[in-house]
Amino acid sequence: NTNCYILGIESSCDDTAAAVIHNGTILSNVVANQEIHTQYGGVVPELASRAHQQNIVPVVHQALRKANIDKKQLHAIAFTSGPGLMGSLLVGTSFSKSLALGLGIPLIDVNHMQAHILAHFIKVEGQTAPNFPFLALTISGGHTQIVKVTNYFEMKVIGQAIDDAVGEAFDKAAKILGLPYPGGPLVDTYAQQGNPKAFKFPKPKVAPLDFSFSGLKTSVLYFVEKETARNPNFISENIEDICASLQYTIVSYLMDKLKNAVKQTGIKEIAIGGGVSANSGIRKALKDAEEKYGWTTHIPKFEYCTDNAAMIAIVGELKYKQGIFANKDVVASARLKF
Ligand code: KG4
Ligand code: ZN
Repeated sequence: NTNCYILGIESSCDDTAAAVIHNGTILSNVVANQEIHTQYGGVVPELASRAHQQNIVPVVHQALRKANIDKKQLHAIAFTSGPGLMGSLLVGTSFSKSLALGLGIPLIDVNHMQAHILAHFIKVEGQTAPNFPFLALTISGGHTQIVKVTNYFEMKVIGQAIDDAVGEAFDKAAKILGLPYPGGPLVDTYAQQGNPKAFKFPKPKVAPLDFSFSGLKTSVLYFVEKETARNPNFISENIEDICASLQYTIVSYLMDKLKNAVKQTGIKEIAIGGGVSANSGIRKALKDAEEKYGWTTHIPKFEYCTDNAAMIAIVGELKYKQGIFANKDVVASARLKF
């Protein structure tokens, strides 16, 4: 059956999201962000699951209404079964099971990380999907991975963060600079007005395709402490240059790892995903790499980069068409692997 309507539900972290897909085209993509965490400077798991509980019914209703369909028209429910915060995952999992059971339609479990990658197969005007095999760089607040993608469900993680994720590095450095959570986008904004060579931060040495970011945060902290001891206004007077230098370090580190991965695999088709792909520095570096190294690069629409349910819906559709369904006893898994 190619004429299917699938509802995707995402609740792995702090965004409650629902989307409806019809033959590769997204009909609605609703995300309820949880403002509550801003005041704590990071996601509080207990508060996240409570907010999911409040948001999930209205968000699903809104997704159906925007798609202009009735729930009885749905062919399947796809939901994130992991990885993520257990309390958050349980809300989406239980809700999806109940809805599928109530409607008497199949349930499809989706790996959040695979979904970030397969988001590239959502139909978007003016964009072409990556050709297999390709390399996916998934960069967000929770993940940093290089994945070799041979087919829709044949993926292998060939490199990853051994400590903090790259978005976390942006956010923690931003916090040290006194910027509100999540600081990544603010670092990016300041960086665009600063000198990337003003200050030098170290790039941690780990295996060629792996990433380490916790040392960067520490070096930013020591640097800021040392400089503010001399000049209490150091941060405010140099915020653009600090952010530009920090962003330059992170982006060139990501690019170094991608270059290593291209060298190792011989694959020059690159697709990025995750919230950090919104970063202007990485976007520019990737575009430049097309000419410089002959890569083909794919950057999804921003709404499909950050956590969303459209990416869950597309995986749902791909699995539905292959007849891959979940059993009724499927459980959420915080550390789900591919
Ligand atoms: O994918 P996402 O919405 O949620 C998950 O973490 O799964 O990613 C959020 C992360 C945050 O760390 C945020 O600071 C970062 O993406 N981010 C950025 C930018 N926009 C979002 N980091 C750097 N530059 C940006 N423009
Ligand atoms: Zn994510």
